Amino acid sequence: MSLLEVDQLSVDLVAQGAPVRVLDRVELAIDAGQVHALVGESGSGKSLTALSVARLLPDTLTRRVAGTVRFDGEDVYGLDPAGLRRLRGRGVGYVFQEPSTALNPVMRIGTQIREMLQLHRPKEATDAVVWRWLERVGIPSPDIRARQYPHELSGGMQQRVMLALALSAQPRLLIADEPTTALDVTIQAQVLDLIQSLQRELGMAVLLITHNFGLVGEIADRVSVMYAGQVVERGPVSAVLNAPRHPYTAALLGSVPRLGDVRESLVVIPGTVPSPGHWPGGCRFHPRCSRATPGCATDQPAWREIAPESWVRCPYPVEVQS
Ligand SMILES: Nc1ncnc2c1ncn2[C@@H]1O[C@H](COP(=O)(O)OP(=O)(O)OP(=O)(O)O)[C@@H](O)[C@H]1O
Ligand SMILES: [Mg+2]
Repeated sequence: MSLLEVDQLSVDLVAQGAPVRVLDRVELAIDAGQVHALVGESGSGKSLTALSVARLLPDTLTRRVAGTVRFDGEDVYGLDPAGLRRLRGRGVGYVFQEPSTALNPVMRIGTQIREMLQLHRPKEATDAVVWRWLERVGIPSPDIRARQYPHELSGGMQQRVMLALALSAQPRLLIADEPTTALDVTIQAQVLDLIQSLQRELGMAVLLITHNFGLVGEIADRVSVMYAGQVVERGPVSAVLNAPRHPYTAALLGSVPRLGDVRESLVVIPGTVPSPGHWPGGCRFHPRCSRATPGCATDQPAWREIAPESWVRCPYPVEVQS
């Protein structure tokens, strides 16, 4: 059994008064201690998937949730308030795409981390432990920083504080939604090294949302690819990167510039990701797919295992070259 198992998760949100489906039969499985990357073009539903998994979408915004999310065998959408508190601290730690919305602007950062510890690791709720977490995420002079407010910190520092906040509860799964996009390149590498070393040290699983395939190849064990509210491919990272089976994954990888690449421009996938409410019938990707047949416009492709641990939502997967 995986630590996190998402089965046929569909979510309808209320947008301008009317319900709109934003996630459709999403599949995900993350084993304990594993790094799982979630990739896909902007607007494909990565953040909404992550928020739904941690049950962080506001109730006022959510019209309907179907399917199941199981964390450590427990049904996340069946949890009572006490179960939810447990889930969000020691179960799932969350690093949001936008740090400024996640930190409390009127509370000193040290106090925020201390409150997290009080809630989830009460024996460790001391200044020394707070400072140690700030130090571990690469914040110098933690005793001084702990007394500052979020607005006194740069974006990169805020992102580190958010990471310290999530990690201090020592979660079994860390969800990191583009944890480095707000940072400059050298800091990006430091933050990723940090996530990776803590992942190993704490035996933590990580769901890493990123646009960066280089990063995926470097640190992930498995990868899931999203398109228009669905996961269309999942597999071991080397298989997906070297021999993608879904035409969308293949196109997406074809559009990544490689070092030493002599092509003048990137291969661009024609068209754009359709937004919720405007998904085409049949396979969502068929209007942009070079392999589409007439049936692809009408038949919903099934999610199926085509090789051990390799899953794809396409009846005509790309052949593996030998
Ligand atoms: N509250 C909402 N109501 C309706 N649609 C929404 C809502 N929130 C997000 N969406 C839409 O759902 C789609 C998926 O959004 P999501 O934020 O999950 O994308 P993403 O894959 O994380 O993109 P990015 O890479 O840009 O962060 C987008 O088209 C977005 O506009
Ligand atoms: Mg996002």
